[in-house]
Amino acid sequence: MDPTARAAELDRADPLAGFRDRFVLADPELVYFDGNSLGRLPRAAAERLATVAGDEWGGELIRAWDHWLDLPVRVGELLGTKVLGARAGEVVVADSTTVNLYRLATAALDARPDRRTILLPRSEFPTDRYVLEGLAGARGLAIRWLDADPVEGLTAADVAAALDADVALAVLSHVNYRSAAIAPLAEITALVREAGGLVLWDLSHSAGVLNVDLAGAGADLAVGCTYKYLCGGPGAPAFLYVRGELQDELRPPIQGWFAQRDQFEMGPAFERRAGIGGWLVGTPGILGLTGVAVGVELVAEADVARIRAKAGELTAFAIEVADAWLAPLGVELGSPRPIERRGGHVSLRHPEARRRCADLIERGVIPDFRAPDSIRVGLSPLTTSFGDVARGLGVLRELLAG
Ligand SMILES: Cc1ncc(COP(=O)(O)O)c(C=O)c1O
Repeated sequence: MDPTARAAELDRADPLAGFRDRFVLADPELVYFDGNSLGRLPRAAAERLATVAGDEWGGELIRAWDHWLDLPVRVGELLGTKVLGARAGEVVVADSTTVNLYRLATAALDARPDRRTILLPRSEFPTDRYVLEGLAGARGLAIRWLDADPVEGLTAADVAAALDADVALAVLSHVNYRSAAIAPLAEITALVREAGGLVLWDLSHSAGVLNVDLAGAGADLAVGCTYKYLCGGPGAPAFLYVRGELQDELRPPIQGWFAQRDQFEMGPAFERRAGIGGWLVGTPGILGLTGVAVGVELVAEADVARIRAKAGELTAFAIEVADAWLAPLGVELGSPRPIERRGGHVSLRHPEARRRCADLIERGVIPDFRAPDSIRVGLSPLTTSFGDVARGLGVLRELLAG
């Protein structure tokens, strides 16, 4: 069947189709393939931000801290239990992914003082590599680089081959930012644990689009962005997860007053509050957190299992269309073919990817370019239709066919 007709059929059968109207679609003609980088604005977020700014900041003023104070823990609780498969009290929303990565990696390395090696995929997102290289340099530790297949991604065997008793910490993305390949989270967690190390997962490209079963996997530590599939807004605060059993054992490297037991007693000595709140640092940005709260509520309402199912169908359809329309024009798939091996985006490789991305944006189709040769087609399930896929890839076909 022609992809355009098939897209219409798939959209009619899509149980999540109604969620699109819950977002601001300022230009209905725009094809947005970047919801995996900056999720669209939920209508409810625009409204709630106006209320928080107008009524709470404007009206309640400092009295609003009575209910703002625990917002990082409350939003973290919803995110952890409804979206990330964590247990209660294991997730908090604060700071940026980069800062959280630094904090949790530091705590993990402090907890394994006799070990000198950090495992890190060479394909890891830049900030993760830079942070860990900085930490390794400052502490005289070695980074052992993992070279995974650039399309198929990291396997448990890749990790097993590099593991030994000197590995303190492995830092890995659950979903690779370029290829969308999924790393086997539970299997790798078990392997590293058996060897006596800790694993810190970057969930930026899986939170809100995949079933992340942190508790089931017994994951130790994780961080991730909220402005992608969770639609928290530009620069919205990130999350961090610390497995309950590790929360007392690990020591946060920054002892800020938001982690203090009786914060407003202003006592002479730092006494860390119990639980995940003990991983907070300083005053949270309430407007940013408000955006995260709304995004997480929407994802929880839509149900992450249904979102994951649609991500599989959307990416499968994009691959089907790319095979039919774009492969004859020199486009190669840069993502794994089996549904269970890829996240919510599809990477399309072409020697002219940089120029074609710019052309696409000019024609009202917004993907992003990843050097050297990838067009990243993000298919955020709550805001992308199958019709978008057919339309956007149709424009790419026209461009490539000249
Ligand atoms: C996998 C991954 N980790 C970390 C980050 C960066 O996080 P931040 O700039 O919010 O600290 C990103 C941003 O796109 C990312 O994709």
